[in-house]
Amino acid sequence: MEQLEQYKDSVRTTWATGDYDAMMRQEGLYEVGPRLVQAMAVQPGEDVLDVACGTGNATIPAARTGARVTGLDLTPAMLARARERAAGVAVEWVEGDAEDLPFPDASFDVVLSTFGCMFAPRHEIVADEIARVLRPSGRLGVCAWTPEGSIGEFFRVVGGHVPPSPEYVDPPLAWGSEEPVRELFEGTGIELEFSREECVIHHASPAAAVECYATQFGPVVRTRESLGDQWPALRDDLLALFERYTTTEVLLPAEYLVIQGLKSAQTT
Ligand SMILES: C[S@@+](CC[C@H](N)C(=O)[O-])C[C@H]1O[C@@H](n2cnc3c(N)ncnc32)[C@H](O)[C@@H]1O
Repeated sequence: MEQLEQYKDSVRTTWATGDYDAMMRQEGLYEVGPRLVQAMAVQPGEDVLDVACGTGNATIPAARTGARVTGLDLTPAMLARARERAAGVAVEWVEGDAEDLPFPDASFDVVLSTFGCMFAPRHEIVADEIARVLRPSGRLGVCAWTPEGSIGEFFRVVGGHVPPSPEYVDPPLAWGSEEPVRELFEGTGIELEFSREECVIHHASPAAAVECYATQFGPVVRTRESLGDQWPALRDDLLALFERYTTTEVLLPAEYLVIQGLKSAQTT
């Protein structure tokens, strides 16, 4: 499907724009990967896949446990930055698509994804691919922003200023609610458990938060470019959002869903 390939090309460009790593460091979001790795009790020698790994939020801490870790992402620029961040920690970095994982069936003991697979367009295909590459008794650990949380609100504010996504793109925030995720994994042999966690996003002021997203977060940088002289309307809406959460500095409580899954021991 040519349109879908074009869409994925634009996704690569989007995530290569700005400076995702700088934004993650500013916001303190690199604490989520190690949290997930610990919750999943990743063990030395296990085979682990991080889907849509970006700059290695979960990949690098997983590899530090002594596991054999593969980080897969669609965007070469993200993988290049991940390689630099890994600095000597052994990871196999693979350019690839969460909708078509380039691995044989039953290749991994653990599959992880932090704010990653939610951005691949066709969620059911991604869930089936994850289930396929997990071994019997394999574990799944996914973090996804909830629609009710402040990041869910952030995506709705941005979405209100741009044309709707093509109909073949599932809404990323659907991975952030229990029911749609249960449906995605129905019939895959993976039993799910859910919990909700929060991290606190730091910026010096609401204006600094807007500046950070407008210059470093690819999806907003590209939106700002495409909006041209309409950008101030979105900028003001974002400013209002951050102002609502501001205390002495912007401390944005960012809720995410933690999806933990266990694949049946039976091979089908
Ligand atoms: C918000 S970033 C998350 C990166 C990282 N997991 C983290 O926690 O920082 C989303 C990532 O999804 C990747 N991505 C989007 N669509 C993808 C797809 N179809 N297959 C693989 N990666 C994809 C992007 O390239 C980007 O690196």
